[in-house]
Amino acid sequence: MASVKVVPLKEFINRHPTGLRQLLQQRENIVCRNKQSGRLKQVQLRALYQNNPTFWQKEDTWQYYLDRAVAESTAEAIRLQRETSSAWQSAGKGEIEELEAVPGDGPAETDTSAKPASNFGEIYDAYKEMPAPERVGLLQATTRKLEELAQEETKDEDAVAEALVQASENATMANRATLLEALRLGGDQAKAYTQEIVKETHRMVRSTIKLVDSAVYNDDLVKAVVEKSNGTVIQHMTRVFLSGLEFLLYYNRQVMTKGIANRIRIRFPRDYKEYYRSLLPHLHEDYITLEHGLYGGMKALNEVEINKFATGFLVHDVGKAEDIEYHEGDEGYDRSTVERHVKLGYRAVMEKTSYPREAALITGYHHEYYGHPNGYGYFREFLAEYKKANPQVSQDYVMAYTMEPLIDYEVLAYFPAKMLEIVDVFDSLTDPNRKYRSPLSEEEALELIETQFIVENHKVDPILFRLFLDFQEDRNTR
Ligand SMILES: [Fe+2]
Ligand SMILES: [Fe+2]
Repeated sequence: MASVKVVPLKEFINRHPTGLRQLLQQRENIVCRNKQSGRLKQVQLRALYQNNPTFWQKEDTWQYYLDRAVAESTAEAIRLQRETSSAWQSAGKGEIEELEAVPGDGPAETDTSAKPASNFGEIYDAYKEMPAPERVGLLQATTRKLEELAQEETKDEDAVAEALVQASENATMANRATLLEALRLGGDQAKAYTQEIVKETHRMVRSTIKLVDSAVYNDDLVKAVVEKSNGTVIQHMTRVFLSGLEFLLYYNRQVMTKGIANRIRIRFPRDYKEYYRSLLPHLHEDYITLEHGLYGGMKALNEVEINKFATGFLVHDVGKAEDIEYHEGDEGYDRSTVERHVKLGYRAVMEKTSYPREAALITGYHHEYYGHPNGYGYFREFLAEYKKANPQVSQDYVMAYTMEPLIDYEVLAYFPAKMLEIVDVFDSLTDPNRKYRSPLSEEEALELIETQFIVENHKVDPILFRLFLDFQEDRNTR
């Protein structure tokens, strides 16, 4: 065989998650090189794929390469498709708004023939078509990259940032596609169907925590890379997962090493007591303490909790419908559609996977806003029923770190969901891709949350918000 310039297939697919699909469509051949003998042969990609969709990851006997010219033209084709799909998305804005404005029509349906890509983006559409094992394969490949980077002694910040975004996007898309499919299956069958993706996601979350915790990566780069990605909802979920995790780790460092609990206790009577009193009006004011705000006092989280909470952050919006624009922290939306994503997400995570229950509760509680009428969630009706049946019970605490007090009706809110709410609203307000309004600057968004979500309404937690302000400042001065 004459010598050809090639690129490793694995590298190509890791860089372009939709590349495999594109190559299959183009009916390309690939070059296989026997690792021992060095023998080269050309093989139809389709044949290898049909035999094993993740063959390209295992290189025990053979290594797989793509002709460089094919790699370049395929990458170009993918880029063009992305551009066309964003152009379609912008062109289709008016149409979607109109469809959403029809009241009482159930979920808005869009004419897919007129709009090739959903709000989830071109890449996600490719994910949806993949068989579940292929999604697992892609996630595995990106997780392995994270693990390799975690092992390296001197880490390249840019490489870490890119790998983190890539892995988070893969995990988000793979989970959404697989969990929504699982909704159509019965409990045990569904859990078996999602088993592999759950296992790989756990692995991916663990490596991500390790890398984010070591703070070697460049936060600005994460922001820039995520902004470049396509598909607003996936982008939102990726950003919320990474920022939410950072915020959790920041919280922990503040509690463990900076004595924040003491400082907040000192400030409590002046800054927070009144707010908490309005949330627990049935309690005598002597009981309105930091220990009643945060169940048992402000605590550091352990590794297991961080793992579970981060998983909840990752999947929090899996229930979002396609082609629907969401308005976290905004007025004027189709409420029933928006509410549905919480219920659907909770059901998918809780009933169709073996993810920890904490992750399901985070999904179900992430728009509760302390019971404010603008908030919504799965548990309002349940809690109202529970209260009716058990009139003696009362919610004497504001937030709990563990699920039990939440399920026993002792607290108003779940700590990780309150952390997530802030990150979620902040992300929605600063999101550059929202259709209904131009994005706010970071300062404007923080100001708006303070006025509309804390001062005028009691939706977001003021202690956690104070920490979020410090976290943003810390992030921007790093
Ligand atoms: Fe949401
Ligand atoms: Fe969200």
